[in-house]
Amino acid sequence: MSDSPATNVVIAVDGPAASGKSSVSRRVANRLGYAFVSTGLMYRAFTWVVCEAGIDPESDPEGVVAVLEKTDIQPDRRGNEIFLRVNGEDPGDALTSDRINSRVSIVAKIPDVRQALVKQQRASAHASDIVMEGRDIGSVVFPDTPYKFYLDASEEVRAQRRAAQGLGDEIAERDRMDANRKVSPLKVAEGATVIDTSDLSLDEVVETLLSHLAKQGLIPNA
Ligand code: DC
Repeated sequence: MSDSPATNVVIAVDGPAASGKSSVSRRVANRLGYAFVSTGLMYRAFTWVVCEAGIDPESDPEGVVAVLEKTDIQPDRRGNEIFLRVNGEDPGDALTSDRINSRVSIVAKIPDVRQALVKQQRASAHASDIVMEGRDIGSVVFPDTPYKFYLDASEEVRAQRRAAQGLGDEIAERDRMDANRKVSPLKVAEGATVIDTSDLSLDEVVETLLSHLAKQGLIPNA
């Protein structure tokens, strides 16, 4: 699989947990007719494989790398969204379980894991224009794209959003790990437009992104 830079349009949307990245990115992708990629789901899918293999990523990072070497990771396009199939399986709802929430940031800081998944992420831009959300999309995965956003929201608002989804998720702890890891930490990419979504509705955030993109020449479908 090629790891060369994208030739299609890539809109990078980064930010901390529960900042609204997925919902916003999915809608922006639909409006523009692009594919949507959640890289968080990719890290979650591989973390699921690690859990199924009975490996504790905290105490056994070498075990995680050994699992990685044996895992078949394939893109899985469903409609306008690109997911990963791991060993031929789609982990489904398990991806947002407490078990994965508490381990995904530990798995995601392992350099070999990032390298393998970044390769998948870059490849997804070969087939179509994409909106990709994550933590390091504008800083590492596609640093040359001119379309970069960083969505933020207060910790209180983000915790409320997760609770409203019925999900128990220690977002502050995940953010701490994601922002402090050595490789590709969560940060505002150079050139990114920062949007604080704390007091904005989903529609308002979508329109804000679309109006920035329109100024850059990317116009939604009618
Ligand atoms: O977006 P999310 O909450 O589903 O992401 C889950 C975890 O995956 C996040 O806490 C850190 C990791 N992640 C990452 O390290 N890099 C990305 N580009 C996306 C997610």
